[in-house]
Amino acid sequence: MLRLFGPLIAPIVGLGFVVALIFSIIVTPHEASEESASHRFHVEPKELHLASDGPLGRFDRQQLQRGFQVYKEVCAACHSLQLVSFRDLQNIGFTGPEVKAIANQWATETPSINPETGEAATRKSIASDRIPSPYANEVAARSANNNALPPDLSLITKAREGGAPYIHSLLTGYREPPAELPKDAQPGPNLHYNPYFPNLNISMPPPLVADGQVTYADGTNPTVDQMAKDVSAFLVWTAEPKLENRHQTGVAVLIFLLIATALGYMAYQNVWAGKKH
Ligand code: HEC
Repeated sequence: MLRLFGPLIAPIVGLGFVVALIFSIIVTPHEASEESASHRFHVEPKELHLASDGPLGRFDRQQLQRGFQVYKEVCAACHSLQLVSFRDLQNIGFTGPEVKAIANQWATETPSINPETGEAATRKSIASDRIPSPYANEVAARSANNNALPPDLSLITKAREGGAPYIHSLLTGYREPPAELPKDAQPGPNLHYNPYFPNLNISMPPPLVADGQVTYADGTNPTVDQMAKDVSAFLVWTAEPKLENRHQTGVAVLIFLLIATALGYMAYQNVWAGKKH
């Protein structure tokens, strides 16, 4: 059987390729035109330089504290930080008593149970609690946000392509849709045009709308751009609080490797360099 069809296999495979090629040429342009609005109008994130960038980067704790303030006063109305405990805030410069007060006064209380009846209840947060979600559960979160789910922000700078620069651009990127935007790419009801968002229309209403929306204790001018930068820097820290340790270890390892290389070379000179092969 195989011997019979053997000589035919090459032409059959070749023909298959040609058919597949023609098919893909016919089909692709149609798909491409559907995708082209988000391709054509999508904008890459603006550059953002943070103190934590680069192999020697360290956090700017003043900026992280400002970013936390923006998170607390603006974003926490919709987004949780479930991987961050209140007491972790000591690592960005808050004192123990400050952390206790922040936890105690947090707008959303921590879920718990009534010790007598066992019914669901809430209590004031303590330093060891995680920063809670403002919603009781996903259904409540969606129903408050036109069926969109505000994601937990703990790891968002790692979870999104573009990282912190993307978050900064997204927060400052809301604008009127351009006149030439095709009809099917126009923002529908409860959607907001933002060319940094991959599909151009996002359910999150612009959270930072006016300069001076928060008041910084350190005197920094709270422009929309500054608040967006600060909260992006803060979200780099929540996603990788040990970044500085990693950078320090990296430098130590490099120095060790350099010394080991020098020692190895000197040993070679001493023992082998003069020997005939
Ligand atoms: C009124 C509620 C609300 C507030 C306030 C809010 N967000 Fe959101 N956010 C949302 C919703 C809803 C989504 C989901 C959007 C979607 O999927 O279309 C979202 C999505 C996001 C995303 C993910 C975008 C993506 O690429 O998927 C980021 C990042 C984000 N928000 C950051 C922030 C920051 C930072 C703040 C504070 C400055 C903030 N949000 C304030 C409701 C809110």
